[in-house]
Formats: sequence, C-alpha cells, structure tokens
Amino acid sequence: MSELPLKTLFSKERIASEVKRLGEEISRDYRDREIVLVAVLNGSFIFFADLVRAISVPVVVDFVRLASYGSETRSSGIVEMRKDLELPVRGRHILVVEDIVDSGLTLESLYHRLLLREPASLKICTLIDKRSRREVEIEVDYVGMTMDDGFIVGYGLDLDERYRNLPDIQLVDEA
Ligand code: PRP
Repeated sequence: MSELPLKTLFSKERIASEVKRLGEEISRDYRDREIVLVAVLNGSFIFFADLVRAISVPVVVDFVRLASYGSETRSSGIVEMRKDLELPVRGRHILVVEDIVDSGLTLESLYHRLLLREPASLKICTLIDKRSRREVEIEVDYVGMTMDDGFIVGYGLDLDERYRNLPDIQLVDEA
C-alpha cells in the first residue's frame, strides 16, 4: 500500500481540548437530567468514547448505523438504517453524536426518524462541522471544530475503512 500524503489539521491536543469543552457545555446544559447519548457508527466511535468520559451528568449509551447511497463524492439522499437504537426514545433526552456533518443528509434522516418516536428533547453534537458543504438545513447544537473543504482521516475517520486509528485528524493531500 503506498503512503498517503497527510498533513495534520487538528492535533490530538486540540481535539482533547475541544472534547473537554464540549463535555463541560453538555454537562451544564443537561444538569439534573439523564442523557441518552447515541453514537452514529462507525466514524464517531473514538470521539464518542472520549466524549462520554468528559460528561459529568448521568448518561446511557446506544448506537446506530446508517448508510447512504450514492457516489463517493455525492450522496443520493437515501439513507438506510442498518442498525437501530435498542433503547426506547419516548420521553427521554436524546443527544446524537457524530464525527462529522458534511451534506447533513445522514443526520437529517436520523433526526426525523427519532422525532417520530417523541423524545423529550433531541439535540446533535458533532466533532467536526463542514458547514460550507451543507445541502439541507439542520441545526447542530454542539460543534467541536469547523473546517472548509478537504478530505480528512484519523480519530475515527476513514479512507476506505483505513486510518481510523491515527491519533490526530489529518488532511489528505489530494494534489
Ligand atoms: C460519515 C460521517 C457521517 C456522514 C456525514 O459517515 O460519519 O455519518 O458521513 O455525511 P453527510 O453529512 O454528508 O451525510 P460514513 O458514511 O463515511 O460512514 P462511517 O461513519 O462508517 O465512516
């Protein structure tokens, strides 16, 4: 396998400091309430593991897996739920945790599915927001970092399922 040209975009130290800040904000906002934290697999698994430990209010965790159809660069907007939540949603405080929001199509689909189950509240947290690429209007409540265009890997994010284990978030030099 040839070496991928990578440049660090967000160091592990920067990520750790944003995760700590997000954990504090979330703990403050959900004071006296139990959160159902929902990780969107696979990309969010490392962020999720760090974020749960940065939150000081009671949490329970659950996992979903979604897959969107389309080409590599453009989603069709059709999102299939490959793994559903196992916990009941009705009357509970749901916080969806993503690694990255790009077009917003994945989250939009999940958000509407969960709303139908009548949660007490439904919010979204993402480590990275690629706001300039948004194709649908979706409000993200907690954002770690924002970025413009560019393909990134590491800290859970992949290129053909590889590089998820890199501790920093790296920009793939596509030149
Ligand atoms: C990535 C990411 C989000 C989604 C964001 O998942 O984890 O779920 O894409 O893109 P969108 O805003 O354009 O919908 P991906 O489908 O690459 O799967 P993975 O989490 O297994 O890496």
